[in-house]
Amino acid sequence: MAGSSTPDEVVFDMRRKRSAPDLWPMLEALYGSHPGYDSFRDDLEAALAAGWKARPVDLKRLDLQRDIEPDWFQRPNMAGYVFYIDRFAGTLNGVLDKIGYLEDLGISYVHFMPCLKPRPGDSDGGYSVMDYGAINPALGTMKDFKAVSTALRQRGISICVDLVLNHTAKEHDWAEKARAGDPAYQDYYLMFDTPDLPRQYEQTLVEVFPDNAPGNFTHYPEIGKWVWTTFNEHQWDLNWANPRVFLEIVKVMLNLANQGADVLRLDAVAFMWKRMGTRCQSEPEVHMILQALRACCRIACPALIHLEEAIVSPQEMLPYLGRGKHDGKEGNLAYHNSLMVQFWGALATRDARLMAHVLGSHFPDRLTNATYATYIRCHDDIGWAITDEDAAALHMNGPAHRAYLSAFYEGSFPGSFAAGAPFQVNEATGDKRISGSFAALAGLEKARTPDEVEAAVQRILLGHALIAGFGGIPLIYMGDELAMGNDHGYLDVPEHAHDSRWLHRPRMDWALATATEGVSARVLQGVKTILARRRATEGLHAAHPQRVLPCPRNPVLALQRLAPTGTILGLYNFSEHWQQVPGRWLRDHGLLEGYDALSDANVTLHDDQLALPPFGRVWLR
Ligand code: GLC
Repeated sequence: MAGSSTPDEVVFDMRRKRSAPDLWPMLEALYGSHPGYDSFRDDLEAALAAGWKARPVDLKRLDLQRDIEPDWFQRPNMAGYVFYIDRFAGTLNGVLDKIGYLEDLGISYVHFMPCLKPRPGDSDGGYSVMDYGAINPALGTMKDFKAVSTALRQRGISICVDLVLNHTAKEHDWAEKARAGDPAYQDYYLMFDTPDLPRQYEQTLVEVFPDNAPGNFTHYPEIGKWVWTTFNEHQWDLNWANPRVFLEIVKVMLNLANQGADVLRLDAVAFMWKRMGTRCQSEPEVHMILQALRACCRIACPALIHLEEAIVSPQEMLPYLGRGKHDGKEGNLAYHNSLMVQFWGALATRDARLMAHVLGSHFPDRLTNATYATYIRCHDDIGWAITDEDAAALHMNGPAHRAYLSAFYEGSFPGSFAAGAPFQVNEATGDKRISGSFAALAGLEKARTPDEVEAAVQRILLGHALIAGFGGIPLIYMGDELAMGNDHGYLDVPEHAHDSRWLHRPRMDWALATATEGVSARVLQGVKTILARRRATEGLHAAHPQRVLPCPRNPVLALQRLAPTGTILGLYNFSEHWQQVPGRWLRDHGLLEGYDALSDANVTLHDDQLALPPFGRVWLR
């Protein structure tokens, strides 16, 4: 660089050079043969430079801080809270009044559920976006967003926002132009003049919403087109084979980063690339695009990280965290869907062996520059993502086991403690997903006796201890820390009534949050303690390797964290019965003295056995 460059320009130039090998080979392979490639390249360079130029000074300082502390998101002080802004605090500005609650709970990361401007009416909970540059007017403005993100950051809380990559609302400006016949914008989407290709694609596609949005294409006679709509009719899939789409989205990302987002939750990424004869999910190009998007952000807004939402099987999920070809260069976070599914599976069966098998055989002991977003509940349904092979490893039949779990959590299986509801039953495949709040699925709604209430409370705390002790960022889903139940009121809201996921998207019950006794108060206190103990336990840093141990007691999951400062052994009892873990087995795994970092107390063996109470959990050191 010339001697007259400002330090700012020097830094940018260094960032460009560092990430160039991660970026350009991907783009060359994806778009090199596109007629507009050269001008796209120039435009992208210009967009990156403009994004950097517009980046506020305080965020550039944050960039430097995170250069120095690249593990900031892997540390045990990280704990997330996920909420709909309107349901939690009314508006964006309302969030400012709730910072105290978040701090008290021990939160250092908030996920604002979709907050960009959605289409009017049913917007799939905000995932049908008509303007990526504006905040949902019902919640506030971009100016409010910037102010709130600054205020949160000053209090040590990072902000995650949703960015939907697979589709826009059909009311988005690009879609409106496409509908009006502009060929440049028609090329932003996947539009067909005849149903022939759509029919061919359908042969191998799956249906995401078979109940209320069957099929993957929508015919619009008024424009004479069949449009690719994987999700709902109003969500038009973007054509990522067009470099202009890539460029537009980079601009959106840099803008959100410069407004103060720390984490972008990239929605429904698996679906971004289409290939005839496949399910059109997780195709290799998806990972090339995601690596290239990551590289763009590392150049122009490096403090920002990416959370990739891919709710798929373990083998298919890990590449989103860079495993394989894109090691260290793709998502920094991805949802640990298997951990969530296996938690519910182990609770129903009172047996942690399938969970241990899946966690132990499919997941590496550590990841490069990445970690999991761990969760038990979120705004979506639970799909029983357990492969036939994994079920067979435990001598179970895959379809039968999945059907059992659906019946159990729907509450129809004899003896089930759960009170959930079915979501998107697929008659053709027998697939039945489940909605319901953590507390309702854990038994609180059906509990009639004090023992049943106690079991539900302990199941809820077991789940929170598991995600806090696992490694990664535990995400608390709003209301779960208060054991809030199902919200049947959604049936009275016309835009929601068709979608049972609204059963577990309640409005925050602030009265419960201030209660000093009762179930909510107990769960709240328990969750706070778990997060506080996590913060105090350095060995839970996500970069330390993790091993799953076969535990001699079937209902107990044993997770070992190999921290250089000392090994931690997490034990989680999934049954309502006491479990005796042999002292010899503990010693074989290096535990000589008994200190439980979770309860911050010493543990003693009786008859050379560690007695774990019903749903008990310990982090032994
Ligand atoms: C993601 C969201 C889900 C939404 C879908 C389509 O999976 O979590 O709520 O329906 O994307 O945008």
